[in-house]
Amino acid sequence: MYTIGTMPPRPPADLAITDALIATMGSAAGPRVGAAMRDLGMLKGDVVVKGGKIVAVGAGAAKAYRVKKTIAAKGRLVTPGLVDPHTHAVFAGTREDEFELRNSGITYAEIAAKGGGIKKSVAQVRAATVEQIKDRTRPALRRMLEHGTTTVEVKSGYGLSLKDEMKLLQAAKELAAEGPPDIVPTFLGAHEIPVEYKDDRAAYVRLLVEKMIPEVAKKKLAKWCDVFCEKGIFEIADSRMILEAAKKAGLGVRLHAEEFATIGGAKLAADLGAASADHLMAIDDSGIDAMRQSGTVAVLLPGTTFFLGLPRYAPARRLIDAGVPVALATDFNPGSCYTESLQIIWAIAATQLKMTAAEVLCASTVNAAHALRLADRGRIGEGLVADLVMWDAEDARTLTYHFGVNQVVTVFRRGSLVAGKL
Ligand code: NIG
Ligand code: FE
Repeated sequence: MYTIGTMPPRPPADLAITDALIATMGSAAGPRVGAAMRDLGMLKGDVVVKGGKIVAVGAGAAKAYRVKKTIAAKGRLVTPGLVDPHTHAVFAGTREDEFELRNSGITYAEIAAKGGGIKKSVAQVRAATVEQIKDRTRPALRRMLEHGTTTVEVKSGYGLSLKDEMKLLQAAKELAAEGPPDIVPTFLGAHEIPVEYKDDRAAYVRLLVEKMIPEVAKKKLAKWCDVFCEKGIFEIADSRMILEAAKKAGLGVRLHAEEFATIGGAKLAADLGAASADHLMAIDDSGIDAMRQSGTVAVLLPGTTFFLGLPRYAPARRLIDAGVPVALATDFNPGSCYTESLQIIWAIAATQLKMTAAEVLCASTVNAAHALRLADRGRIGEGLVADLVMWDAEDARTLTYHFGVNQVVTVFRRGSLVAGKL
């Protein structure tokens, strides 16, 4: 009992960010669809952190705690740590030569047909060690963190043999242990037909289904399985077979769908209960309707359309207006989109996809977390992981308005300062 006039002792806390403009992203778990994507759950006040988790949010919240470290945001915007739900971040070399060729009018498909593209990256990975791959990826992960990304999905897919795919997933696993950022690993053995199977695609699909997927699942090297479902690569029947095997082995499923040709990948994703269908530059109305019904997240990668110099972007407005949950990702990879920054993706999403600043923020936090089925992050609320970004902005709209520079002031992972400076 305390006598009248005596305050109860205040509980301790590790960190408080005070006087911030907080984009909480709402109190309910994701996904957000339609107009709800534009509601940032904005409030002015403090975020209090203890033991890596958020313990309180709101006006004057910090006053109720004995806080070890207080950071005055001075009205600046604080958001959840960004989640990048689609990258190919483990590889062994880049392909500058192809970018020059593409800009001279040669297409991505023509380059791929001549042994460039993914095939070239595969040759580089096969010649590399796990250490060499890690040495290349580590600085990229660091750049992601510096640009506000605290959780990143990382796909394999440049090995295309059991040994070489394992090498990529092993590199991702070791980098995850080094962290931050948090890494969510995805097996993408079905990224391309390896040269040794070029005349026998069915045999490679069998290898994936019978050997590679069970082995990856058994060793717990991936949480998800993805397929490049595309005309002339893995078509619908192959993709279905591969993803059904993945589900049987206990992996979650997602796919690269309708990137260049409309072949029904979005509908397949919906039928399989995939967590996401990604790219979707060529999605049609029936695909949109199927995804709306299944709640499959549309992960859009406008950086790829931009970097490939293509005129047709994914129909973000139609997807959002139809009620499909939309997320954004970098697609960071050595060929078709070489950027670690979600901020440049936002500038492209605003100008080309016609998304609002609120929508892009939703697409990179709560909806991106939902695309990876991570309910413990992507929002700022009690009990959630304290991954936070403070921005050099006092208005969320500045995030899409100020482009080509890094707007991050500081990044916190589990309440610890991991990038930027105070
Ligand atoms: O998502 N579309 C297929 N895969 C990657 C490209 C990878 C590469 O070109 O190396 C993508 O864009
Ligand atoms: Fe991709």
